[in-house]
Amino acid sequence: MKVAIVGASGAVGQEFLRVLDERNFPIDELLLFGSSRSAGRTYTFKGKPIVVKELKHNDDFKGVDIAFTSAGAGTSKEFAETITRYGAIMIDNSSAFRMDDDVPLVVPEVNGDDAFVRPRGIIANPNCTTIQMVVALNAIEAVSHIKRVHVATYQAASGAGASAMAELKKQYEQLIAGEKPTVEKFFFQLAYNLIPQVDVFTDNLYTKEEMKMYNETRKIMHSDIAVSATCVRVPVMRAHSEAIWIETERPVSVAEAREAFAHAKGVVLEDDPENRVYPMPLFKAGCDPVYVGRIRSDISNPNGLTFWTVSDQIKKGAALNAVQIAEYLLAHQK
Ligand SMILES: NC(=O)c1ccc[n+]([C@@H]2O[C@H](COP(=O)([O-])OP(=O)(O)OC[C@H]3O[C@@H](n4cnc5c(N)ncnc54)[C@H](OP(=O)(O)O)[C@@H]3O)[C@@H](O)[C@H]2O)c1
Repeated sequence: MKVAIVGASGAVGQEFLRVLDERNFPIDELLLFGSSRSAGRTYTFKGKPIVVKELKHNDDFKGVDIAFTSAGAGTSKEFAETITRYGAIMIDNSSAFRMDDDVPLVVPEVNGDDAFVRPRGIIANPNCTTIQMVVALNAIEAVSHIKRVHVATYQAASGAGASAMAELKKQYEQLIAGEKPTVEKFFFQLAYNLIPQVDVFTDNLYTKEEMKMYNETRKIMHSDIAVSATCVRVPVMRAHSEAIWIETERPVSVAEAREAFAHAKGVVLEDDPENRVYPMPLFKAGCDPVYVGRIRSDISNPNGLTFWTVSDQIKKGAALNAVQIAEYLLAHQK
């Protein structure tokens, strides 16, 4: 198996190196790609140094079986043809192709089989906030159809990449030193703050990130589910959290929900309020599952249920989900 990572120097690219190693993904040869900025840099995989190549329009992808791409939507669009020309499956982390009809959008726990229908050789990895939500929603959907979702996200700095993590750390250091914090990556200072805007606004006054949660959830779940999201950037380094309210076709009790979450693929239930057991992002960085807690009946809606999820968005929200797609393809080859 010849595997490529495009965007190897980035937050997600670096996570790919860890996840592929951790899961012992079958690799005979690994190729790393980046822009001219990181070309020539060396990263180690399974004890062997690999030099990053510059991504160019050439034949470098000849013989590549799977290419994990995480270099932004513009790069994915520009290089998709070059990457897939000789048959490589491109598993893309960007938003470039997610809503294209001829590109499957896949979370293996929910719709793994969709990955087999990929006329362009491209499989899209959903947005990180959507991945963690649909893994949890899927558990309840099996009990009763979910008609509506309200969700408020608490998104870590790392969701905006390696430079955003560095900026948050630097802001705290500067503030402690009594200096004016550098604000480049986010619209405002994130340290000691919350920013109720992730990505740009659309015509309906939701942000692009919020509309991704609406559109992508429907595509992945093959459902008419309606999603209203408010996405907020928070000064957490890694792992996104989400407060989720759902309305189901018939009332789902807390006991039924706990039972469903306890047995759902990819979910770990951490829900013991009396003992203050609930998931928190600080403790979930680097973990694989989607954690669910704070489950309760919605006192404002007889068919409502509310809960809290936490998941490492660089892992399950990006690199891990993409590797799981590849694993699903290998395990269920048709
Ligand atoms: N961070 C997350 O939690 C997360 C979650 C889900 C999806 N994603 C998506 O994953 C992608 C990468 O995100 P990230 O957080 O890893 O960003 P990042 O830390 O800023 O890394 C960006 C990567 O893209 C590479 N790149 C940029 N332009 C390129 C070009 N023209 N040719 C080749 N490589 C190029 C960069 O290489 P150089 O160092 O050479 O510039 C770097 O390796 C984005 O599309 C993002 O939306 C991110």
